[in-house]
Amino acid sequence: MSETIESKLVKIPQEEYDQLVEPYREAMTRLEVRINGLNEDYRKKYRDYPIHNVQARIKSRKSIEKKLIHRELPVSAISAKENLTDIAGIRVICYFIEDIYSILSLVRTQTDLLILKESDYITNPKPNGYRSHHIILGVNVFCLDASEYYPVEIQLRTISMDFWAAMEHRISYKKEYDNREQRVA
Ligand code: GTP
Ligand code: MG
Repeated sequence: MSETIESKLVKIPQEEYDQLVEPYREAMTRLEVRINGLNEDYRKKYRDYPIHNVQARIKSRKSIEKKLIHRELPVSAISAKENLTDIAGIRVICYFIEDIYSILSLVRTQTDLLILKESDYITNPKPNGYRSHHIILGVNVFCLDASEYYPVEIQLRTISMDFWAAMEHRISYKKEYDNREQRVA
C-alpha cells in the first residue's frame, strides 16, 4: 500500500496538543463572553444588535501540523506556541460595516486586552477580493502562580463578506483537491 502524504506528516502527540490548547481555549472562551456582552451593551444603548453571530474555534491538531510544515517550521507544541497566532480564533459576523467599526472601538476600550496586530482587509481588500477586519488580541490567562498573554485572532466581517469567504474557500479548496486527484490519476 502506498504511503499517503498525511501518514508522512510529523505529528504532535495528542497529549501535547491537549496541553498546548488548554490556555488558548480559556482565552478564547473569555473573549467570546466579552464580545457577547459588548453586543448586549450596544443593543441596550442603541436598540439594535450589531452582531449577527459569533463563532469560535480552536485550530485542530492536523491544521497546526500542516501550517508548521507549510512554513517550514519545526512541528512541535513549542513551535506552535512560538509561531502561530491563530490557534484560537473567533469570527464575528455583523450586519453592516459600521457595526464592525463600532465593535472595534468598544474592543479598544477594554484595557485588559492587548492589541497585538491589526489588518484591515475591508479598507484594503486582498487581491482576490477577500474582505474582513483581522485583529489579534492578547488575553491574560492566569495559572496557579503566574499569568501569560495568549493570542486570539478575531475576524470581523459582514454577512455578505462571510458568504463570499465561505464560497471562495470552498472553490479554492475544491480546485486544489481536483488538481491532486488528476495528479494521482
Ligand atoms: P494564514 O496563514 O492563512 O492564517 O494567514 P496569515 O497568518 O498571513 O493571516 P491573514 O490575515 O492573511 O489570514 C488569516 C485568516 O484569514 C486565514 O486563516 C483565513 O481564515 C482568512 N483568510 C485570509 N485570506 C483569505 C482568503 O483569501 N480567502 C478566505 N476564504 N479566507 C481568507
Ligand atoms: Mg488562519
